[in-house]
Amino acid sequence: MTTTHDTPTTGGALTEDELKADLTLDQLRQLVGLVEYDASSDPFPVTAMDAICFVVGNATQTATFYQLAFGMELEAYRGPENGLRDAKVFVLRSGSARFVFAGGVTPDSPLLEHHRKHGDGVVDLALEVPDVDRCIDHARSVGATILDEPYEISDEHGVVRMAAIATYGETRHTLVDRSRYDGPYLPGFEARSTVVERREGHPKRLFQAVDHCVGNVELGRMDEWVTFYNKVMGFTNMAEFIGDDIATDYSALMSKVVASGNHRVKFPLNEPAIAKKKSQIDEYLEFYDGAGCQHIALATNDILRSVDILRANGIAFLDTPDSYYDDPALRERIGEVRVPIEELKQRGILVDRDEDGYLLQIFTKPVGDRPTVFYELIERHGSLGFGKGNFKALFQAIEREQELRGNL
Ligand SMILES: [Fe+2]
Repeated sequence: MTTTHDTPTTGGALTEDELKADLTLDQLRQLVGLVEYDASSDPFPVTAMDAICFVVGNATQTATFYQLAFGMELEAYRGPENGLRDAKVFVLRSGSARFVFAGGVTPDSPLLEHHRKHGDGVVDLALEVPDVDRCIDHARSVGATILDEPYEISDEHGVVRMAAIATYGETRHTLVDRSRYDGPYLPGFEARSTVVERREGHPKRLFQAVDHCVGNVELGRMDEWVTFYNKVMGFTNMAEFIGDDIATDYSALMSKVVASGNHRVKFPLNEPAIAKKKSQIDEYLEFYDGAGCQHIALATNDILRSVDILRANGIAFLDTPDSYYDDPALRERIGEVRVPIEELKQRGILVDRDEDGYLLQIFTKPVGDRPTVFYELIERHGSLGFGKGNFKALFQAIEREQELRGNL
């Protein structure tokens, strides 16, 4: 069966998830840099991220951790109790962001194999699309690897049409059209809600949306993946950082950013660059055993409060040296921001400014045992950048951690 959807997916409409999260277009323009675009000529229209799906060593505890530490809400569940024999899958939400955590239950679960190799990590950057078949037809015509041909699953809440294509490493993009479905997450899942009691004064959520997801790819393969996103998904190149911008004395990387037409989906792609010592990207590739998702940036409208709460909840952030804030050149470059620099210094929050505005950002340490996946908190004020001016300070901070791990 082929579905057709005539409505163009422009930045001028809210997604179901955004509506559910009470977000407005104005907020999204600020939070994630949403832009207007005409999807009618887009061969692969993408509405938004559908979900970020992880395989983890212990989904039960991970789901609890993200509720407790990241303030996320449990939304749906599937497991042995409701028909899934070999895995437990928890669906969590914060604003329009949906994270899915899966763990193997039976010893022969393929999820355990994946976890043995890669550790906790992102297996699927699932995309919400208005027309799965149109996307797959186009992807096939330009030579993409189709992992799952279009198929449908249904229950009493309706029908979801899906397919999947391969991207870097063992990562996939599942394409999801849930326009005819109103159940929790996907057919087979049952609704669940958080039992965690929030402390008094706890905000409704600590982040509102996913801003971008970064992929680390092998040396020499960044341009290949940029071309993949250009050709297969019609993504455009947003920014380009190469060489000195992001090199320290020891480690270096190259990075390019591709984005969907409405900029809801932004994928920076990194590859290691040759330097005196092992780059942070090499460390990732070694410990993840291949290309994969390096960090997920979470958009917040109050980074100070979010960071304070995350820290109080036990999340560790990279340290920023005092010298970063005391540097007159930095003060000159960033100009006026919404809070005194002292407030940022206290918390180690970085600032960057470009011709469009500024952004505040901070990075966590890796959240699992392996030095792989970590998070960024980002508060945008007009800037559509990714913190280019902070790359050097950030890399020096990462190198200090690498050195402690014996991986520099
Ligand atoms: Fe980032």
